[in-house]
Amino acid sequence: MYTQALDLPPSPEDKSVVRLAHTAPDQADLQAAFDRRIDADGRIEPQDWMPEAYRKTLVRQISQHAHSEIVGMLPEGNWISRAPSLKRKTILIAKVQDEAGHGLYLYSAAETLGTSRDEMLAALHSGKAKYSSIFNYPTLNWADVGVIGWLVDGAAIMNQIPLCRCSYGPYARAMVRVCKEESFHQRQGYEALLSMMKGTAEQHALVQDAVNRWWWKCLAMFGPPDDQSPNSAQGMRWGIKRISNDELRQKFVDATVPQAELLGVTLPDPDLKWNESRQHYDYGAIDWDEFWATVNGNGPCNKERLATRVKAWNDGQWLRDAALAHARKESQRTRQEAA
Ligand SMILES: [Fe+2]
Ligand SMILES: [Fe+2]
Repeated sequence: MYTQALDLPPSPEDKSVVRLAHTAPDQADLQAAFDRRIDADGRIEPQDWMPEAYRKTLVRQISQHAHSEIVGMLPEGNWISRAPSLKRKTILIAKVQDEAGHGLYLYSAAETLGTSRDEMLAALHSGKAKYSSIFNYPTLNWADVGVIGWLVDGAAIMNQIPLCRCSYGPYARAMVRVCKEESFHQRQGYEALLSMMKGTAEQHALVQDAVNRWWWKCLAMFGPPDDQSPNSAQGMRWGIKRISNDELRQKFVDATVPQAELLGVTLPDPDLKWNESRQHYDYGAIDWDEFWATVNGNGPCNKERLATRVKAWNDGQWLRDAALAHARKESQRTRQEAA
């Protein structure tokens, strides 16, 4: 779908973006046309001129997002063989497979910006590229799988819905489908927890323990507070980011508290309470030192996650070689037949 977009001719009535193939205007004209498009809340497509900093920001953000999707398969993938029933196993397989698909859409979207998938994966495997630090924590019991669906995918949806309106067309379009699938992920997690909460006292305790371990990490998923997030303003100006970290975090807290009440679990924050004047829930302080330690490679599973990805890449080398050799033979045959 993305490569097709590369071949789309500009619509005749569209004068807001200058295309390099047709004209050779100077840098200022190109920048002005780009700014007009952004101000009009229009989309930037791969064939359009864009400032280098915009391109680099998008490559970093989209590839980081793609890496998060495929590394995110690992904590739950661990539970596929240990799911408590056939029904739960099929749901979990479908979810983990969806995350692989999300990675593929996003690598494809990033490739439209001129960076190859090999380059992006090399950056992941060398530890240079980041992925969401939430996946550097272990899944200790089955309730963790439910809590990841409910809270981690729930936080991801909150983050990703505004990205459906991102100014970069391929990223925005990829996010529409991703968000639909994330919604299934969130519901399956919540439904699995509801089942456990109808069960024994031991099952209740497992759910509560998992909520206690994941809650604060999910709040940190929205990124540093707005006053410590220097790149946010530029992301907003470019129409890449639509809602600030703190606003998204607040929306997540407000949406999740009633769900926790319905489920019958306590969110582990003594400062969590409704603020009548703000019409929002107040919540306690997030441990940013722990967040940064994990981002910087010192979380409980950073090394294990990366080693698993590198091994998967190395183990798949024979398949990539075989696919390329097959493609070469095919094109040779086609050329010979045409001659
Ligand atoms: Fe996903
Ligand atoms: Fe998901």
